[in-house]
Amino acid sequence: MFTRDEALDRVERAGSAADLFGPFDPTRRKEAQRLYRGLAAVLHPDRAGTADTRAHAASAELTRLHHEWQNGTSVELRTARAAYRITDRHAVGSVANVYRTDGPHVVKVVRTPTLNPLLHAEWDALRRLTRFTDQHRWLRPYYPRLTDTSGDVRRGERAFTVLEPLVDGFVTLADVRRAFPRGLDGRDYAWMHRRLLRAIAGAHRIGLVHGAITADNVLVHPKQHGIVLAGWTFAVTAGERLLATGKTIAYPPEVHDGRPVTTATDVHMAHTLMLELLADDETGQRTFARGCTQDDPDRRPDAVDLLTEYDELLEELYGERTFRPFALPTTGA
Ligand SMILES: Nc1ncnc2c1ncn2[C@@H]1O[C@H](COP(=O)(O)OP(=O)(O)O)[C@@H](O)[C@H]1O
Ligand SMILES: [Mg+2]
Repeated sequence: MFTRDEALDRVERAGSAADLFGPFDPTRRKEAQRLYRGLAAVLHPDRAGTADTRAHAASAELTRLHHEWQNGTSVELRTARAAYRITDRHAVGSVANVYRTDGPHVVKVVRTPTLNPLLHAEWDALRRLTRFTDQHRWLRPYYPRLTDTSGDVRRGERAFTVLEPLVDGFVTLADVRRAFPRGLDGRDYAWMHRRLLRAIAGAHRIGLVHGAITADNVLVHPKQHGIVLAGWTFAVTAGERLLATGKTIAYPPEVHDGRPVTTATDVHMAHTLMLELLADDETGQRTFARGCTQDDPDRRPDAVDLLTEYDELLEELYGERTFRPFALPTTGA
């Protein structure tokens, strides 16, 4: 319980919603609500009296600050270089949430500080990819772009990553799968898989294993036939063991056995995904995918060889390549 003066002090001295309710944290909503109720009760005219204009003003300010905090509108995440103002949550990942900001960025915030090392691993992977695509610029669109990070944070604080937004016109492959429950026409999946293979083969050139090639981590731009391989929190160098695994992710046998992962691990995952996305009657492509999901990693082809092998298969199945417009069905909602 607060006294009137304590409550006034708290509210009047708060420079921002985060000052009063603490740094932004969606899991702390209840706590913020309790603080709000406690302060509001003391400042309410029924308690403070209708003549207490100072309490009245503080009460209005309190409500405004709480509203801001709840909507995340006042929440700022600071780095050494800049402050990012969170607006709303865009997506929930395996270890982090992605938030929109009022500027040209999204911010990926790890859900618990104990998983900060996974974000650090992702910074490392994305920086390696940036250096690589500075040399091979045509591969740039296939990877997320890191623009800033929290850097090292104090104990108990959550690390975050600032990324270029892949928001307008993008959906995930999981959205695509939901939109086509009977599976995709092989000609639609063809351009997605060709590009996914490019993203994977590129990473493999620098010895990087993505380690979580799942429908959530593949962003698709249906209109522009764009593919971005996101979600690099599980990435490691080939020959290492995964730092962590996701509960809902379908892994190849070497991961279940706790063995080191290799580029063949990504090949397995990409083609498991292919089998999940394709319609049942896409037998040609399905046979191809099964050749890439063999239990023994040594028997799986390399991603770089698959680029040509897949193109050859597509030509055999569908003839010369033509642009085929693709869109998700509109839901009429
Ligand atoms: N740069 C981005 N712009 C917009 N959405 C993104 C971006 N990066 C990731 N996402 C979305 O956020 C989700 C979670 O991000 P991800 O990097 O996969 O986090 P995690 O590593 O915790 O799984 C993704 O599934 C994707 O839908
Ligand atoms: Mg993810």
